[in-house]
Amino acid sequence: MIILSIDTSCDETSVAVTENRRVLAQSIYSQILIHKKWGGVVPSLAKRAHEERIDLVIEDTISKFTAYKNVKNGYKLIDAVAVTVGPGLAMALEVGIQKAKEISLKHNKKIIEVNHIEGHIYSPFVENRNGNPKRVFTFPYLALVVSGGHTELVLWKDHLRYEILGRTLDDASGEALDKASKMLGLGYPGGAVIEQLASQVHNEDMYRFPRPMIKSNDLNFSFSGLKTSLYYFLNKMKEKDKLNHLKEIASSFQNAVFDAILIKTEKAIKQTGITKLTVGGGVVANKYLRSLLRNLVSSYKGTVLFPPYSYLTGDNAAMIGVVAYYMAIENKYSFTETIDRKPRFSLS
Ligand code: KG4
Ligand code: ZN
Repeated sequence: MIILSIDTSCDETSVAVTENRRVLAQSIYSQILIHKKWGGVVPSLAKRAHEERIDLVIEDTISKFTAYKNVKNGYKLIDAVAVTVGPGLAMALEVGIQKAKEISLKHNKKIIEVNHIEGHIYSPFVENRNGNPKRVFTFPYLALVVSGGHTELVLWKDHLRYEILGRTLDDASGEALDKASKMLGLGYPGGAVIEQLASQVHNEDMYRFPRPMIKSNDLNFSFSGLKTSLYYFLNKMKEKDKLNHLKEIASSFQNAVFDAILIKTEKAIKQTGITKLTVGGGVVANKYLRSLLRNLVSSYKGTVLFPPYSYLTGDNAAMIGVVAYYMAIENKYSFTETIDRKPRFSLS
């Protein structure tokens, strides 16, 4: 089944053509440079940039697909159009949805509405053109999503069947790193810069910031208190000391965020007895976090699966196309005329 998928949920304009789990063509236009100077994503600028780029990104993807299949009209081979309808920025989502509607009507294709978080959950199972890596589903999994917009622990029971075990009550883990980065004068987005600085001091945890929510017995997260403690910590510090200890501060903050993720993931493993972990979202681009999660599951003799290619950690349409394939198997199509954005779309 060949699906053209679109995701414009935040600051990446992304389009893919997938066949079942295989990505045949894909293209991502990142708006990071546009939002960088504002220190975060500005919805109206995101909308405009999506509008300006979406046709080009679609054309680019279709032409890659057409070349791969060696046909004249790639659209003829496409069975359905999939689009992210939420969660995400309403103004941004709208651009992808309008375009998906247009294509669906023009080329007479069925349409599938996809939840963005489901995309991140499926991202470890996305394959390249040649069907690699070959990973077989062995449900149930404990699915962890750690991104700029979401931090969730999900019991992934079967295809498209979930139970949310815990989620952040305020900021997401990536958002916490981004806000810390801003306070430290390191710019936006912050995750990758903090990773780099922290690695230069061997991920040392010099300042032991408080571990958020570790005392609570549930599986929810909260990162806004941690942000506040960094704020007061920096307020008390002399500028010169801040600069001299930038790496140690960045590393300590990263440790606090990752510890919270680890502690709750371990709780979820104990609570459910499930030792097969899948992880998706931009924050899992972080090699240190990957190593911590590997160590955690191996102490339970479990396994962990990460997105196999780096573009699959951040926002991308390929993961949306793969979810849509499983939805199509269950005949979960929508009416083109009535699909609409769902900025607060929840998994269950
Ligand atoms: O999945 P994503 O691209 O977008 C959302 O759906 O939110 O995630 C973006 C987030 C940002 O907060 C960014 O700082 C974080 O992922 N991130 C990282 C790294 N690369 C990106 N966090 C930690 N380490 C990284 N190497
Ligand atoms: Zn995302």
